[in-house]
Amino acid sequence: ADTLAAAAQQSGRYFGTAVAANKLGDGTYVNILNREFDMVTAENEMKMDALEPNQNQFSYGTADRIVNQAIGQGKRVRGHALAWHMQQPGWMQNMGGTQLRNAMLNHITQVATYYRGKIYAWDVVNEAFADGNSGGRRDSNLQRTGNDWIEAAFRAARSADPNAKLCYNDYNTDNWSHAKTQGVYNMVRDFKSRGVPIDCVGFQAHFNSGNPVPSNYHTTLQNFADLGVDVQITELDIEGSGSSQAQQFQGVTQACLAVARCTGITVWGIRDSDSWRASGTPLLFDGSGNKKQAYNSVLSAL
Ligand code: XIL
Repeated sequence: ADTLAAAAQQSGRYFGTAVAANKLGDGTYVNILNREFDMVTAENEMKMDALEPNQNQFSYGTADRIVNQAIGQGKRVRGHALAWHMQQPGWMQNMGGTQLRNAMLNHITQVATYYRGKIYAWDVVNEAFADGNSGGRRDSNLQRTGNDWIEAAFRAARSADPNAKLCYNDYNTDNWSHAKTQGVYNMVRDFKSRGVPIDCVGFQAHFNSGNPVPSNYHTTLQNFADLGVDVQITELDIEGSGSSQAQQFQGVTQACLAVARCTGITVWGIRDSDSWRASGTPLLFDGSGNKKQAYNSVLSAL
């Protein structure tokens, strides 16, 4: 196979990228997108602030450009994200209690219903766990509505779109020995044991020198998969360049391929110049759209 998507399909997996709506007029960008990827995540356009700028007034136009472009090209879509403490619309940021809980549930119900049948997997809840050694939840307005807010979110999403896979998504959950990883693992185990509808766990996988690809990555992915969920690498980027970067990309790809329930990998942008990171070269294509060494190492590992 000579594209990422075709290579991933050889083992029944997908290879995706984050897409920004304002780049869909960029010929180089769209050319690589259409050629290399078979899964798309909207980089910002399906977040709460984008879809519900005023309470109960939904705005789907920009997100739909991404979704329709993807589906028109035969690609699938990961929905990102139904509930998150960041990129909330202003009206939601200062809400609390029952009012906020109901607003969150209404958002999930409306958005998941609108997109019913078009989404492969939803990141239902994003980044709800704390960094550091507590292994517990992050403080946020959503968390303060009650510890059961995450399961309430998953139940609302299941009711609205019964056929979409429902994922919990987070960062710094790659190293099996980290407290945050254990915290998420314990939540997923609890959800599975109590029948809370969860189908998958997303690992953002934003790596840099301070947060390198852990040597136990395969263990982490396998342990989660053994709970009875799919796992996916959802926002991959790795700071660096040359062979060191290529090796790390290859290691992540191999870790996924070694886990039967690791169903796909998504990189968080196409060219280095498309990256959300202010500086650096963390992606698979250079600023001109040329394939990097990291690209070749991923392709050969798939
Ligand atoms: C980032 C986008 O890439 C940026 O354009 C935006 O300014 C901030 O959000 N974790 C996530 C993604 O789940 O939604 C974030 O995306 C990156 C970190």
